[in-house]
Amino acid sequence: MKCDEAPLLAIFLLLKGILTSVRLQCNTLSLGSLSVGSKRMGKTLGRIWRVLAWHLPMYQMRVVMFRACGVKIGKGVYIGNLVYLDSEYPEFIEIEDEVAIAPGAIVVAHSGGSPFLARTGVFHEGPQKVLLKRGAWVGVGAIVLPGVTVEEGAIVAAGAVVSQNVPAFTIVAGNPARAVKKLEGPQNPNRVS
Ligand SMILES: CC(C)(COP(=O)(O)OP(=O)(O)OC[C@H]1O[C@@H](n2cnc3c(N)ncnc32)[C@H](O)[C@@H]1OP(=O)(O)O)[C@@H](O)C(=O)NCCC(=O)NCCS
Repeated sequence: MKCDEAPLLAIFLLLKGILTSVRLQCNTLSLGSLSVGSKRMGKTLGRIWRVLAWHLPMYQMRVVMFRACGVKIGKGVYIGNLVYLDSEYPEFIEIEDEVAIAPGAIVVAHSGGSPFLARTGVFHEGPQKVLLKRGAWVGVGAIVLPGVTVEEGAIVAAGAVVSQNVPAFTIVAGNPARAVKKLEGPQNPNRVS
């Protein structure tokens, strides 16, 4: 570790400690009590963590923040700055080990529609799980839509809009995203077990 990274690491460890305890408090607020007020409080805290997660200088801090928001995140995950993970339904997003999400990417898990569309019942879709499987890579500025599974080792190219599942070890690009290349699987299976 370089000397100039030491203060950042100290801040990170401090934040992690605080968040571990506050996250427990959030869970208690949203699950332990069934009152609407408590749930709102939990969501509000989640929104604050999300804003922090966009801007924190180290990706490890961003991962900690998004976990505190309720996103399920595995080990060795990279999350770039200004990544948006659905703040209304973070618990509908699961990110497996060694996934990378590049800066400015967006992962949404619901289509709420406008207040008018929701109120009149013209259009409203509830949350649908988004799953980024092990080793997947979402490029800069890409958008992953509700209900999508990005399979193991798949690549979502920069700026792609993904509305359908992405097969393993496949590159998809464009809007709507389409497969543009098939990758070879892992060269050394021992290194991915
Ligand atoms: C996908 C990517 C990795 C390129 O992979 P590659 O194996 O070199 O693929 P190629 O350049 O051979 O592209 C294959 C095809 O997809 C197209 N393509 C590649 N990236 C594309 C994109 N972002 N949008 C649209 N089309 C794209 C290429 O034009 C090519 O089309 P063609 O076969 O008609 O010529 C790269 O384009 C990309 O999007 N990188 C993301 C960068 C990033 O997010 N960096 C942040 C790091 S954290």
